[in-house]
Amino acid sequence: MKENYRDFPPLIDPITKENLNYISSENKEYMQSSDGSKFEILNSIPRILYEDFDYTDAFGIQWNKWRRTQLDSFTGTNITRKRLTRCLGDKICENLNDTSKETHVLEVGCGAGRFTEVLLEYSVKLVSSDLSSAVDANVINCPISPKHQVVQADVNKSPFGPNYDLVICLGVIQHTPNSEDTIKALYDSVKPGGSLVIDHYTHDLKRFTKLILLFRPIIKRLPAKQRMKFCESMVTIFLPIHKAIKDIPFAQMIFSRISPITSYFHAYPELSDELQREWAILDTHDGLTDWNKRLRTPSSIRKTLEKLGATDIEVWKGGNGVEARCKKPII
Ligand SMILES: C[S@@+](CC[C@H](N)C(=O)[O-])C[C@H]1O[C@@H](n2cnc3c(N)ncnc32)[C@H](O)[C@@H]1O
Repeated sequence: MKENYRDFPPLIDPITKENLNYISSENKEYMQSSDGSKFEILNSIPRILYEDFDYTDAFGIQWNKWRRTQLDSFTGTNITRKRLTRCLGDKICENLNDTSKETHVLEVGCGAGRFTEVLLEYSVKLVSSDLSSAVDANVINCPISPKHQVVQADVNKSPFGPNYDLVICLGVIQHTPNSEDTIKALYDSVKPGGSLVIDHYTHDLKRFTKLILLFRPIIKRLPAKQRMKFCESMVTIFLPIHKAIKDIPFAQMIFSRISPITSYFHAYPELSDELQREWAILDTHDGLTDWNKRLRTPSSIRKTLEKLGATDIEVWKGGNGVEARCKKPII
């Protein structure tokens, strides 16, 4: 850790905003603030955590259990690469490919690393962060190296200063307590002249017709084992029906509105039957156990970015709802 952390922008104390310094005592490693606050480094991951209620607990369990399920390197597909490069756009991809400069990238809400592994193929120094124990899955999939650092931290108590050429946050903001605060916190870590790339759930029909979502407040409070078992049982019952009608688009459309599970026979027919089942369990669990599930329209995302003073704002409907990117002007 000691050698590694110098290769990356400094971590800062989320409260005092002063740089954290690496210290080691009695065989333990810490990042320490000048006021004496200490954050432990475990498994080479600085844990910039407070004692608050951790609403991301279910995500941590999920990403450690299905650590490889959605990685392109595991599925043999380019599902994640396509989503990532669409969100980045040609210009940012070109910059990330430029080997003549060092591009600092911050990925927030990295989960098990489906985007991390693709980002690491570019000419970048990447810091991946997540509030949950998903960081432990991430370092197994994408080991710490001179180009990769992993930090466990809350985006809303961020240890990252305005040092990153690119801040990317996909599949995350809707799960945080306040989308606008989170977008501001992400924007704050962008270097002047740098870019922010985000996405967000939106108000589409499936969010209002899935009856199972009425039971989400109960399901998300079940003990972890029961939550998993429930999702697995639902998939065992309903996935064969999704499979049986996968070639009848109208039946597929109607059934997926009411079925309690998430199925990908339609969206990703390239996945094998075994992977269809794994993805269905994972994403049914994801969709029924997330603590917060917020929705935003493209225009509200645009307004939030405008309010922050962003330029070159592009917002469109796509992917999981709304996708957006913008730049922070050089003042
Ligand atoms: C649906 S998962 C997406 C993970 C990854 N981006 C992907 O698409 O596979 C959402 C992730 O956001 C993380 N997360 C939620 N709230 C967060 C916060 N306040 N700060 C940092 N990460 C957060 C969760 O722990 C979880 O790993």
